[in-house]
Amino acid sequence: METDWSRLSEVIADAMGLHFPRERWPDLQRGLAGATTEFGFTDIAACAESLLSAPLTKIQMQVLADHLTIGETYFFREKRTFEAIASQLLPALIESRRNGERRLRLWSAACCTGEEAYSLAIMLHQLLPDLAAWHVTILATDINARFLRKAVAASYGEWSFRDAPAGFKERYFIRGEDNRYLVVPEIRQMVTFAPLNLAEGGYPSLATDTNAMDLIFCRNVLMYFAPAQAVRVIANLRHALIDGGWLAVGPSEVSQALFPGFVVRNFPGVILYQKGGAPLSSRPQPRPKLRGETERLDFAPALPWPRPAAPVPAATRAPAPRSEREEKRPRPYELARALYEQGRQAEAVETLLVPAARAMRDPREFHLLARALANEGKLTDALAWCDSGLVADKLDAVGHYLRATILLEQGQVAPARISLQRAVYLDPAFVLAHFALGNLARANGKPGEADRHFSNAQQLLVRLKADEPIPEGDGLTAGRLAEIIATLATLKTSR
Ligand SMILES: C[S@@+](CC[C@H](N)C(=O)[O-])C[C@H]1O[C@@H](n2cnc3c(N)ncnc32)[C@H](O)[C@@H]1O
Repeated sequence: METDWSRLSEVIADAMGLHFPRERWPDLQRGLAGATTEFGFTDIAACAESLLSAPLTKIQMQVLADHLTIGETYFFREKRTFEAIASQLLPALIESRRNGERRLRLWSAACCTGEEAYSLAIMLHQLLPDLAAWHVTILATDINARFLRKAVAASYGEWSFRDAPAGFKERYFIRGEDNRYLVVPEIRQMVTFAPLNLAEGGYPSLATDTNAMDLIFCRNVLMYFAPAQAVRVIANLRHALIDGGWLAVGPSEVSQALFPGFVVRNFPGVILYQKGGAPLSSRPQPRPKLRGETERLDFAPALPWPRPAAPVPAATRAPAPRSEREEKRPRPYELARALYEQGRQAEAVETLLVPAARAMRDPREFHLLARALANEGKLTDALAWCDSGLVADKLDAVGHYLRATILLEQGQVAPARISLQRAVYLDPAFVLAHFALGNLARANGKPGEADRHFSNAQQLLVRLKADEPIPEGDGLTAGRLAEIIATLATLKTSR
């Protein structure tokens, strides 16, 4: 029977983003030929037929990723991007944060075997003589678990250094056997590797630490995506950036059409995209219409930033009377939630806070405020609102969990662990709190403890349907989290 290559390429594009138009069918056929024996077939047509017979499983996607993705990368690839970032963008960012929250969040999305992420770590190491006084996050993700395992192993051959600056190898690598070079521990420990399929969505999310990024590298991967998928990925990455955050793509991925909502910034020999940082009141976007909304909602003009000076106990606040008309209108929480889901964090915050006289009673409002502020990188404010919510209800497991994720973004590991322990004590079925405890143990080089927490999470996940969204997971499904945990178990920690 004739193989339906057109359908197979559609299935692969849907599941993994990878686009194989007719002219790239030879690449698809070559990749599939490589995967055929791994799938237990001797014949490529039978293998294709079986892949088309049901939705692709996670394991099938892993095998396909291994044979269809391109693992070409090296240290300081496209040097001019690093030069622009190191000479202009990061010094300004560092200066603006030096007297406030000393936090930097970078993400190498599609990190391949890790060279890009370690290049970022080395760059920061050079730019920040007082690195220890900063909380630096470098997240590195990829669809291909085999590449991730190599990245965690951090051992490289000469070819990875083909464009590296002079002296770089000697300073940041230890020479091992067989002409391999091992990244020094101080750089290795700056990077966290995790699996993430850009085509699947589920980011940004506090749960996977993919939110509030200052700088995202997503290079030399969008060019393999179908245009519609690339547009979705770019929109998600935009949401994962704070206002004023930056996106770097490969030189051949720069495009007029694909980057709405970004400002094009020219640097010598390179274009970077910046998420516009217009002030709240001048945002031109229309408010989202909610299901059932018929009338236009009127909002008071933006007030000065109302940071809570001290937590306000719920008991002292009288419930606001609600008129019948108000009952029919979408409540601030629902409107704010819709804005939040569109990545419009500042407007979500504004929606909850502008009617300042309104007493907040619903714990979900505290949660949403904390989340939206954290996604904007306003961690101190996010924490203050979390604490206000916890004063109102100290048994609120979600509040403790959110508090922990914010503390982790601030680098406050010990209090974060306590908050997570409180969350699982109050709600033993809180999957993401178990997952976060596992990540924490893993980051601290305690694999046994990490396995215990991950196994608790897995036991809870098997009770859920694979496509069921996990509470507090920003769209992360049970199946996807189970897959992430399974892959993490195969990545030996580098700490
Ligand atoms: C050519 S490498 C780019 C590596 C690095 N960013 C660079 O520019 O040197 C492309 C990477 O994209 C990854 N990739 C492909 N499809 C992906 C997807 N759907 N989600 C995440 N990563 C993906 C591949 O596994 C591969 O590691």
